[in-house]
Amino acid sequence: ARVDKAGYKHFMAKEIAEQPSVISGTLSAYLTQDSIALPEPGMDFTKVDRLVMVACGTAYYACLTAKYWFEKLAGIPVEVDIASEFRYREPPITPGTQAIFVSQSGETADTLAALHYARGKADRIVAVVNVPESSMAREADYVLPIHAGAEIGVASTKAFTCMLTVLLTMALRASADRGRMNDNQIADFSRKFRGLPGALNVALGRDEIIEDAARQIAEARDVLFLGRGSMYPLALEGALKLKEISYIHAEAYASGELKHGPIALIDKSVPVVVMAPRDGLFEKTVSNMHEVMARGGRVCLITDAAGAELAGSDVWRTILMPEVDEAFAPILYALPAQLLAYHAAVAKGTDVDQPRNLAKSVTVE
Ligand code: G6P
Repeated sequence: ARVDKAGYKHFMAKEIAEQPSVISGTLSAYLTQDSIALPEPGMDFTKVDRLVMVACGTAYYACLTAKYWFEKLAGIPVEVDIASEFRYREPPITPGTQAIFVSQSGETADTLAALHYARGKADRIVAVVNVPESSMAREADYVLPIHAGAEIGVASTKAFTCMLTVLLTMALRASADRGRMNDNQIADFSRKFRGLPGALNVALGRDEIIEDAARQIAEARDVLFLGRGSMYPLALEGALKLKEISYIHAEAYASGELKHGPIALIDKSVPVVVMAPRDGLFEKTVSNMHEVMARGGRVCLITDAAGAELAGSDVWRTILMPEVDEAFAPILYALPAQLLAYHAAVAKGTDVDQPRNLAKSVTVE
């Protein structure tokens, strides 16, 4: 079926706005009333010693985020690799390894080649894909569709958050399989998870303030993104989105690395986007922000009410997110990151849906 823009100026805007509803759909496919029901019922994590996750681009950042979930919730060690590195490095794959390949298209040449390399070495090959009839889906032992629907914008948005949604349900399943969460805890978590689309709608409601910040950011030559813990991969994704569609140079760092190099770049011309819900690490992030502000850097802080209060009044712009369970924050905070890039690109007048030099799916090396 032909997909149209449904009244939006760009496919990207439509795909950003669709996220509460597509994620609801993904959740209905993966959660029952009070438990996790992966579409591959045979899949279990009791005997898994190690996960290897491989992908390219935005899907790679989804894997980096999932590493935090699998390690924290399920206690499984995770290695994440860029497909083009993995396939040529020929990494040893020991018994007990489950290999997970994540891809919107299911056709990315490097990811597919990495899957071929892992076949016969890993205990199990899992494909997390948007296109269920893709090559990766055909060649995997287990297929977990993300149900994002057709994504037309070259810069991935809803596929990213749907990947995260599926990967988080997998981590929850792994946690249950390994006795880290009991039935009640899982039921409680599933209930909160089903409330996430409501929080995503609140995030979309911040569009105007994000657009205002984005117009200023669009004038910068360089932008720095910072995050800690599972917000670090989100910072990477935020910087990638901005580069892809606005052509502004953006870099992401783990907040704690600021003093090991990037702080040398900070002056009043470099906006710094900090993605930080109020969590156990927030106070460390506040001190990183003060280091930036002391050097004239403008901080655009994406946080919740508790975080905004602790951050103080010197912050240049605050984008308020609703408070959610820590585990859901990466999915929620993806939306302001996407909107920031989108509005910066619109302000610059670039071709948002078809950025120069980029392809939706890279099926040749
Ligand atoms: C291209 C696209 C990106 C995408 C990457 C991986 O570079 O422009 O948006 O993240 O490929 O694609 P995949 O289909 O494997 O997720």
